[in-house]
Amino acid sequence: MNVEEYLEKVKEAAKFVQEKVSKKPKMAIILGSGLGKISQSLDETISIPYSEIPHFPRSTAPGHKGELLIGQLKGKNTLLMNGRFHYYEGYTMKEVTFPIRVMQELGIETLIITNAAGALNPDFEVGVPCIITDHINFFGDNPLIGPNIDDWGPRFPDMTEVYSRNLVQEAFKSAKKLNLKVYSGVYLGLSGPTFETPAEMSMLRNFGADVVGMSTVPEAIVARHGGMNILGITAITDKAVPEQLKEVTAEEVIEVAQKTGEQIANLIMGMIDAF
Ligand code: HPA
Repeated sequence: MNVEEYLEKVKEAAKFVQEKVSKKPKMAIILGSGLGKISQSLDETISIPYSEIPHFPRSTAPGHKGELLIGQLKGKNTLLMNGRFHYYEGYTMKEVTFPIRVMQELGIETLIITNAAGALNPDFEVGVPCIITDHINFFGDNPLIGPNIDDWGPRFPDMTEVYSRNLVQEAFKSAKKLNLKVYSGVYLGLSGPTFETPAEMSMLRNFGADVVGMSTVPEAIVARHGGMNILGITAITDKAVPEQLKEVTAEEVIEVAQKTGEQIANLIMGMIDAF
């Protein structure tokens, strides 16, 4: 697909969504595996299935639905992306990040990205949220490869503050207020779908990462390119530490994510005025 076609498709999808809503959302949340909890706090919700949106990909991953939810989160007009697209599903980087461009066209200024991930940091406990302070792109690919659309962002975007330091601080304030335990750390994103071997876990930890997962990085790169403020929150669902090995299953990941999702929903609701 050439860039003009891609741009046209994004615009058509955005127009379709915009015509369904009366007030434009300024904030969006990507709901990771098992992290749909916050959608229960959304009022005056309208649901738009991905299958109805022109050119929108469909989600196939377990624990992921396929719909945009638009409504009020404590009075803030918000778009929830219920079900994301993963590189391991076979989508291209442009497909994985198509919804982010649609958000950009809709005028989204703040993006909250949630995900489930394994802990590389041996001190991190399962079931605790981790605020993402930075990331390592280990996908071996980048969604910005190819001709640049200058209206969307610069050819060589700065990546010194992908995750807003201000929002990280606000997230910590919210956690303190709620008496919630949270960590902060570096998220390393890779393609999957395999979980890591013990040798890979050691390597990734030595690279300076605290958590490892199969999403978020492509979305964050595109959102940053597009000038959005980003907050990333991980639900730690398992340990990727060679000395503390336990077999990981997708079912377990989703089960723990659902429990941790409640805390993440509270954390976001507790800092809603910061967005
Ligand atoms: N590794 C990679 N991705 C993940 C993990 C993990 O341990 N847990 C949840 N997503």
